[in-house]
Amino acid sequence: MVSETPQTPPAIDEQAITAAVEQALAAIAAAPDTAALKQVRIEHVGDRSVIATANAGIKDLPKDQRAAAGKLIGQGKGRVQKALAERQQELAAAEEEQALATEKVDVTLPTDRLPRGARHPLSLLTERLEDLFVGLGWEIAEGPEIEAEWFNFDALNFDVDHPARQMQDTFYVAPEGSGQVLRTHTSPVQARALLERGVPLYIACPGTTFRTDEPDATHSPVFHQVEGLAIDKGLTMANLVGTLDAIARTMFGEGAITRLRPSYFPFTEPSAEMDFRCFSCDAKLGTDRDASPDCRVCGGTGWIEMGGCGMVNPAVLRACGVDPEEYQGFAFGLGIERILMLRNGVEDMRDMAEGDVRFSQHYGTEI
Ligand code: PHE
Repeated sequence: MVSETPQTPPAIDEQAITAAVEQALAAIAAAPDTAALKQVRIEHVGDRSVIATANAGIKDLPKDQRAAAGKLIGQGKGRVQKALAERQQELAAAEEEQALATEKVDVTLPTDRLPRGARHPLSLLTERLEDLFVGLGWEIAEGPEIEAEWFNFDALNFDVDHPARQMQDTFYVAPEGSGQVLRTHTSPVQARALLERGVPLYIACPGTTFRTDEPDATHSPVFHQVEGLAIDKGLTMANLVGTLDAIARTMFGEGAITRLRPSYFPFTEPSAEMDFRCFSCDAKLGTDRDASPDCRVCGGTGWIEMGGCGMVNPAVLRACGVDPEEYQGFAFGLGIERILMLRNGVEDMRDMAEGDVRFSQHYGTEI
């Protein structure tokens, strides 16, 4: 038989509870900051605290003691919770004030933020031109800036005594007789592409070119061109004009038109200078309208010179192994600086080479 050990009902230790409440209140008052207060809360009202344990023990008390114990513990807990809440508010406010004081930002201080750079407007314009040609289904081709004299002149049908070959126009690469020059135009890429890629061929070649010009507002020894070359069966001058019109419209807006004037280049026959109708003054309203006499873009002529063009000379095709009886085509060369000057109102070409970022920010920033 199992004898039941008579259970002594646990009594509530009033003193201990009152002491615990007093200790908690003292600890709350002494907590220096909210982090410490959090610790106080865990210690004094957390699950293992005297108050919480006593609270949990109420149900085990003899019935007649429960109400009194509940009241005692409940009141004590209430005082502690209230003190915690008040202290929490007090400390948090003090901490916020402190943070505002120490983290104050003086918006009047001079900034040390680095200014943003910008891409060079010539690069942006070149990419825009490339996009235009890619949009027409053409390919982009490139060639070297230090070019064989043969590609720069001979393949392009320049006579040995052509004036362009002279030292006063062309930078020759040392030593004398090296056969190398800094390319004076992008046309040598025509010959390279014909030899490398064969026909039919539709290419645009943007690139840097060099001539022994003194730098001034409209000349620079280093400048940029974009060359166009189309070789196929049955291409005519009408295809050239149509292509130039498309370029003019893309660069200068709907309604832009072009005109050709007879000219001479050894590598094209017939050759022409191409002019775009001025996009700036009254001339843009049509060829039946006169240009504004004081227009800064066209000088009152109504036309702006854009570069050279023509039907590729059969001699060039032959030099590149193409039968001119079967394939014909056209070529043109546009000055990129010139387009930038006209489109964006840049007045001095030297600004493009000086490397002042403000120039690029002004003319080159695109979103
Ligand atoms: N290469 C010529 C120049 O630099 C321009 C040009 C290109 C002319 C293609 C005709 C055909 O002046």
